Amino acid sequence: MARILVTSALPYANGRLHFGHLAGAYLPADIYTRFKKLQGEDVIHICGTDEHGAPITFAAKKEGVSPKQLVDKYYRIICDSFERFGIKFDNFSRTSLPLHHRVSREFFLNLYQKGYIFDKETDQYYCETDKSFLPDRYIEGTCPYCGYEAARGDQCEECGRWLEPAMLLNPHCTLCGGTPVKRKTKHWYFDLPKFEDKLVEWLQSKEDWKPNVREFALGWIREGLVPRPITRDLDWGVTVPLDEAKGKVLYVWFDAPIGYVSSTMEWALKQGKHELWKDYWLDPQTKLIHFIGKDNIVFHAIIWPAVLMGHGEFVLPDNIPANEYLLLGKGKFSTSRGTALWLDEYLDKYPADPLRYTLAINLPETGDTEFTWELFIERNNELADVLGNFVHRTLMFVHRYMGGKVRTPVDVTAEDLTLLRKVEATRDEVANAIDRFQLKKGIKLIMELVREGNRYFDYQKPWVLRKEDTERAKAVMGVCATLIANLSVLVTPYLPFTGEGIKNMLNLPEYKWDDIGKIKVDTTVGEVQPLFQKLKPEDIP
Ligand code: 2FM
Ligand code: ZN
Repeated sequence: MARILVTSALPYANGRLHFGHLAGAYLPADIYTRFKKLQGEDVIHICGTDEHGAPITFAAKKEGVSPKQLVDKYYRIICDSFERFGIKFDNFSRTSLPLHHRVSREFFLNLYQKGYIFDKETDQYYCETDKSFLPDRYIEGTCPYCGYEAARGDQCEECGRWLEPAMLLNPHCTLCGGTPVKRKTKHWYFDLPKFEDKLVEWLQSKEDWKPNVREFALGWIREGLVPRPITRDLDWGVTVPLDEAKGKVLYVWFDAPIGYVSSTMEWALKQGKHELWKDYWLDPQTKLIHFIGKDNIVFHAIIWPAVLMGHGEFVLPDNIPANEYLLLGKGKFSTSRGTALWLDEYLDKYPADPLRYTLAINLPETGDTEFTWELFIERNNELADVLGNFVHRTLMFVHRYMGGKVRTPVDVTAEDLTLLRKVEATRDEVANAIDRFQLKKGIKLIMELVREGNRYFDYQKPWVLRKEDTERAKAVMGVCATLIANLSVLVTPYLPFTGEGIKNMLNLPEYKWDDIGKIKVDTTVGEVQPLFQKLKPEDIP
């Protein structure tokens, strides 16, 4: 069985997690991994915090703390939020760990020795007030491609193009606002054009990729590949392993994806199986899947694969199901611009699953989508009215009128069978959708099945049967409880807390994905708790 290595983009440890992060990478990766684990696949979900580069040093300066203090603080906040939101990782590492530094330097030297990295002296912008070179977000100006005025030195957040400071029009220092001057400095460049043919051939073979990802990457290559500087004049990061590169560190986007490898190594070490990471990274059969947001496509679909090709021993990404943006009003969620909805604040007030549901059903899979609190209330209430109601009305009925006892009926009617058969069909359709990264479709199919359950309940009228035909009333409740038991597994990738809640109320054991459709009940229902609370507009700040 081929192994599956799922990664989600390493979040910068420079701020809290916002809803945009969740919709872009983490929720889809979590749904996918939970599903694969339920299927019994050999799958691991690898991540960690991205703790280097200008995003960190810049934020540290703004908060008036050292980079180390900053990353320590946000590493903890990020871990805590992920845990409370039910995003499960097999390993969540940090790029500031010595292991990661060592592996990143090894990658650099490997490529350097093969002639894929060369040095070059160029004029770079330097701020005389701040006495430093201005890489990446230390410099802003107008994007030469789209005219966006606040484009950063490394990338334009508006059009997604990769930039270099020298390309910006009207550049200014983001620390002091001053106009920088040019100064000579030496940097090391990754010779990306050497990989052009191989990259094109590889990308063209990926016919099952989302068109937005594949076309974006191929279009980017068509515009022409140029060598990319992979070192920076910063004093925080992985030092460059060359004597002549004193005072320079690796560009954060060079070391960050290597974090997927070092985090897998850490995972193996924690289990005392030092070599185990190789079974995933060095086996060409492994399905390496990178979950990311669309602003990361260039790095994951072009530069990182080229690094892996250059190195030669590692498996290449099998798929990169990048999502578009989740918009709040008109703008993209962004930590650096302070426009966001914060996960930790949300979790202090509400449970995880209603937000998981709202985001899952509204994932920006093929185009940008929008988040509003009105939408959240609507989806929360839909969850309560459809799933919450079906579970509650069934279990309350069983509790009240049947002494809590319920079992899957032996004699079933055609209507009972139709509903129960739909469970298996839905299981397969959902599996198919998740396998194709159509996660929205999966949750919609599940909700359709629950709606069917509610229609069945209404049609059978157990409140009448209870007085006229107790045996049939028991059978109907048995069918509903059987559906609920199967749903406890079916919903788990999307709504893990709900799945667990149902499991507890019905005293169910652990089931696998393939059990869905075959799960039967013969149990006494414990205390019945509502799964969701309905919300009114005034409940939201
Ligand atoms: O865009 C970001 O938030 C980056 N920290 C993502 C890094 S992904 C990977 F390469 F590590
Ligand atoms: Zn300045």
